[in-house]
Amino acid sequence: MNGLLYDIVLAPFEAINLGRLREELLSHAHGKTLEIGSGTGLNLPYYPQDTMIIGIEPDESMRQKSLERAGHFHAQVMAGDAMALPFPDEEFDTVVGTLVFCTIPDPQKAMEEVHRVLKPGGTFLLLEHVRKNTPVMGKLLDVMTPLWFHLADGCHLNRDPSDTIKRLGFKTQEYRSIWKGLGKLWMLVK
Ligand SMILES: C[S@@+](CC[C@H](N)C(=O)[O-])C[C@H]1O[C@@H](n2cnc3c(N)ncnc32)[C@H](O)[C@@H]1O
Repeated sequence: MNGLLYDIVLAPFEAINLGRLREELLSHAHGKTLEIGSGTGLNLPYYPQDTMIIGIEPDESMRQKSLERAGHFHAQVMAGDAMALPFPDEEFDTVVGTLVFCTIPDPQKAMEEVHRVLKPGGTFLLLEHVRKNTPVMGKLLDVMTPLWFHLADGCHLNRDPSDTIKRLGFKTQEYRSIWKGLGKLWMLVK
């Protein structure tokens, strides 16, 4: 996806409440932090100053845009795939994912990778739009997903990582529903 276009499309949502949600979520990041699918680096301004951030982003244009931002923060950005993270087990204090499990081809595999690279007691911070679990809206999101997948670079409107999170057995599994049930914000501890 074109990084400049992504930032232009997201700008109104950042202003309405996405920026505030990023700020709230990332205030819990600490220590050595991995961000998967870091996109154009829109989270970078919100990390606490003492975090050491490594971003993994497979898309060249998105990564270039984030590299322009990363220079202003304590951050590195590299090419990589969340389904096969190039890090040893239990390497990170915090892992962050925002609006990313909707796009990753095998979200279960990526979640297993996140769990693997987190230290015991480490924190996984996650913000996702999800399939709203009501008959009409859920069905509508199912119907819209094939077209949306092509328009929005592989994004699914009808996913929800809750079951995978439960299966992996994070110690605490707090989440909050946002956007009238169309999104969730999680703070998970391994
Ligand atoms: C909707 S964007 C979100 C970007 C950013 N996280 C944000 O909050 O603005 C989805 C991102 O996931 C990335 N992505 C897709 N497949 C991925 C994978 N297998 N591993 C890591 N990132 C991936 C895309 O390249 C894109 O940057």
